[in-house]
Amino acid sequence: MGEFLRIGHTSQLQPHSTSPNERRLELQRTADETASIIREAASKESTILTVTHFDADGLTAGAIAFEAVKRLNTIAHLRIVENLSEKTIEEIGAIDADFIMFSDIGSGYLDIVSKGLKNREIVIADHHQVLGEAPPNLHHFNTHLLGFNGSEEISGAGTAYLLAKAIDPKNVDLSALAIVGCLGDQQDKGPKRSLIGLNNEILEDAVKAKLVEVTQDLVLFGRQTRPIHRAIASTTTPFLPGLSGEEDRCLALLDSVNIPTKVDDRWRTISDLSLEEKKRLVDKIIQHMISLKLSGEVALELIGSVYTLSKEEPSTPLRDAREYGSLLNACGRMGKPGLGVALGLGDRGASFEEAQQVYSEYRKFLSKYMNWITSDPKSLVQKGHLVIVRGEGVIDENMTGAVSSILSSSNLFGGSKVTLVVTATKEGESKVSARGTDQLIEKGLNLGKILQDLSPKYGGYGGGHAIAAGATVERQSLESFLTQFEKTVESTIK
Ligand code: C5P
Ligand code: C5P
Ligand code: ZN
Repeated sequence: MGEFLRIGHTSQLQPHSTSPNERRLELQRTADETASIIREAASKESTILTVTHFDADGLTAGAIAFEAVKRLNTIAHLRIVENLSEKTIEEIGAIDADFIMFSDIGSGYLDIVSKGLKNREIVIADHHQVLGEAPPNLHHFNTHLLGFNGSEEISGAGTAYLLAKAIDPKNVDLSALAIVGCLGDQQDKGPKRSLIGLNNEILEDAVKAKLVEVTQDLVLFGRQTRPIHRAIASTTTPFLPGLSGEEDRCLALLDSVNIPTKVDDRWRTISDLSLEEKKRLVDKIIQHMISLKLSGEVALELIGSVYTLSKEEPSTPLRDAREYGSLLNACGRMGKPGLGVALGLGDRGASFEEAQQVYSEYRKFLSKYMNWITSDPKSLVQKGHLVIVRGEGVIDENMTGAVSSILSSSNLFGGSKVTLVVTATKEGESKVSARGTDQLIEKGLNLGKILQDLSPKYGGYGGGHAIAAGATVERQSLESFLTQFEKTVESTIK
């Protein structure tokens, strides 16, 4: 194994001079080692508790980890959390389990996990940036630390999958869930929205197992299920100003390029369009963006890889891995995370119906927030490279990440900006969700590190990825935290 570079007090070990091949071998060695610890715990009939994060990636990670443990015929429990704090760790500690496995969460909180759970055996399978030290009872399987970028090459679900496959190669059937997780985490960062690195390796497993098919098409939400105008209006990645959330305007746009929306009495879907019609539609969306003085380039993100889950019923949102991910994000963020995991574990029928209801509510909340942000000048402050949305009293604390991601992809504020969505929590704290851009990351911006460093100084905790991170801070320290955050961002990217 090659040399490592120790960065600051975070003891973030980044492979420095290892070849991709060596890194892959080291990753496999760590996965195998961690898997044998889990198998051993199961062989002693331990009760294994999986703790996972509440977004789409976390719910799929949790479903994969829980299922892999259950298949070892041991007692398996699952707990879903919105964040880790001393309080959540205390609650986890009160659960009767000999062995605790964290998925998609934990690596940024090694100190509080180890302090709060001293007498347990712990595994953390995660893809976030690391903070703190792992004591001997904590087995750390962190794909980011092993040299794979946790915001574009590997998700939390992918990390859980690699571990599940090391536990038992038969677990390859869980690969499709890992694809849903990485798309839910917006990791389709390769050319034409392809997957890269370990995500792509997992995709190869899923394709080989005939679980996922990859084709090129328009990446619009509800490609096979919704009337075309609704599919355009429902698309928020990328966000299309004037079209996202605006069904009537989408109908008018289709009309202006002579694309019929119905055949007889049946609504046509994107999959019914001819290649020529699809081209006309994209060209028109580009023109629409340019007419709003926005970059037409964003619309090119509408063409790329789509991931079909072959075993899911045709004409349902679960058939498209991105839509499945959105459904799970909705479940997590609308307070129904258990429903999301149930879907991941194969529940359909009533669970699926309920998830669709939850999704429709989630869309209403997002539209309400976006309308407020775009119509009320008091909703936000623009300063240098920062756009700060003051969502106190409007935006729910569990929705800040979703709003920040959509805004960041919207290009509404021109150029390359850091988007920060702020709200107040029920506990009387302030929650922030930060999103950056590839351009700013290239300049050295690391939002996860900035929030890891700053939040404890303002009575809170935070972390995440370089491009997407979050934090909770004391309400009375928020303004000074924001001032310091702005200074740090500006000095990093100047
Ligand atoms: O906790 P987790 O890693 O799953 O959450 C990452 C969050 O950051 C998600 O909300 C995801 O959409 C966002 N993200 C992003 N761009 C990336 C990677 C993640 O906006 N490249
Ligand atoms: O909450 P939000 O979607 O903004 O989170 C973005 C990323 O930051 C996620 O990967 C999440 O796990 C991480 N995060 C964190 N600590 C927090 C809040 C968010 O590590 N207190
Ligand atoms: Zn994740």
